[in-house]
Amino acid sequence: MEITDLLWAFDGAGDRQDVARDEVAGRLARLGQRRAARIVRRLPATGGVLDAAAVDALALRVHCELLRLAEELLLGRRVADHIGPVVQRLRRERPTEPVRVVDIGCGLGYVVRWLAQSGALGPGVELFGVDLNPVLAAAARELAAAEALDCEFVHGDAFDPGTAIQHGPRTVVISSGLMHHLPAPELPALFAAQERLGVAAFAHWDIVPSRWSTLGAWVFHRARMREPVSRHDGVLSARRAHPAPVLMAAAAAGAPGYLARVVERTGLIEHRRSDRLAARRGAALVAAMLVPVVLACLVDLAAHPSRLTVYARTGVAMLQVYGPYAALVLLALLFYTLLGWRQRYLAAAAILGPFTLIRPAVVVAGGAFGVHTSRDPLAAVLVGLAVVAVLAVEPVADRVWYCAARTAGPPTRVKRPVRRRHPVPPDVARRRR
Ligand SMILES: C[S@@+](CC[C@H](N)C(=O)[O-])C[C@H]1O[C@@H](n2cnc3c(N)ncnc32)[C@H](O)[C@@H]1O
Repeated sequence: MEITDLLWAFDGAGDRQDVARDEVAGRLARLGQRRAARIVRRLPATGGVLDAAAVDALALRVHCELLRLAEELLLGRRVADHIGPVVQRLRRERPTEPVRVVDIGCGLGYVVRWLAQSGALGPGVELFGVDLNPVLAAAARELAAAEALDCEFVHGDAFDPGTAIQHGPRTVVISSGLMHHLPAPELPALFAAQERLGVAAFAHWDIVPSRWSTLGAWVFHRARMREPVSRHDGVLSARRAHPAPVLMAAAAAGAPGYLARVVERTGLIEHRRSDRLAARRGAALVAAMLVPVVLACLVDLAAHPSRLTVYARTGVAMLQVYGPYAALVLLALLFYTLLGWRQRYLAAAAILGPFTLIRPAVVVAGGAFGVHTSRDPLAAVLVGLAVVAVLAVEPVADRVWYCAARTAGPPTRVKRPVRRRHPVPPDVARRRR
């Protein structure tokens, strides 16, 4: 189970129920998820009941981190790519009637808000998001209002998408990252709900379960996320995702009137102002922390100019490790800046994500090689200090700038996505004619 699946309970009328911390932790422990149980035991509770405000704030933090992944994997663009042709067909059939796109399990509404910002689906499209968690639906609404976007978010159940669907034949239902939250036996009912409403098409995105996607999820969640719940649930998502045959069987059983197919696609990174701010902060911290080491080196050289050869030898050795690493990262960034979105995604997925993860090991390896090559105690000490300074940047930045942000709510401003043209392949589930 994902931790976030267990932190809220609602009765039939939609009223919130108390959630006992020990019960959740015990359930996870019984499933063998001891780390998840430990994370839950650390959540604030009063009289054994999880603190509702703290849990809501946690949901927002986790989903903010998820937004980043959605942005990095260019989820909005991929959705527009897939459903664009269906929306165009519906528009052509009845140009005066609006087409509606409903995202079920929308979380903070990244996809819906991206579609609203970019206008990628063209005019006359109504955009709706539905989520079972009222806190997320309300936060999505707030974000959309702050961005002055023309889209709506409502609290509702994916099994009853009629909350947001008034005219099925003019509606396309989408979801991302929802299906792995549902047990396999419930999936046919999900598709059946869409068939019952006679929607024009549905398109659902989820992780392809495999060892590679689990590894990829681990790499990306370790490298990009800070919240323990995000890291835990993110990796588990990949492990518990339904294989394609299960999804196809569920679609065939629940919505036999539709032609369904499985399509795998990818996305790319979008830069954001916060990324650039983080880069500036990191560079400033590295510079500040390395200043004492550089000064010590200069003082030593002023006193003993002949030791220049020692420092040069040490520096060259370290560059032999750092150089190829930096060259690859720069190459990936170059791809990222110049090439099309598929190549850019490859650069992000194959190089930038994993290389962020191995950065500490590279720093230590370069330092160790420098120490080994220098054969000089003072140079070795200075290299050691430089390595410690570089490794300390991430925890220091976390403590100074990001810990406080983790106790606050979601960001109120999200950068406008850049509007770009892209091809639109026709591959969503369509109603049989
Ligand atoms: C992994 S999140 C994905 C959020 C968002 N679609 C995204 O891609 O970032 C799964 C979302 O599905 C929602 N959810 C789970 N079961 C649901 C249901 N039966 N009806 C509607 N939403 C549901 C959760 O509240 C959560 O926000």
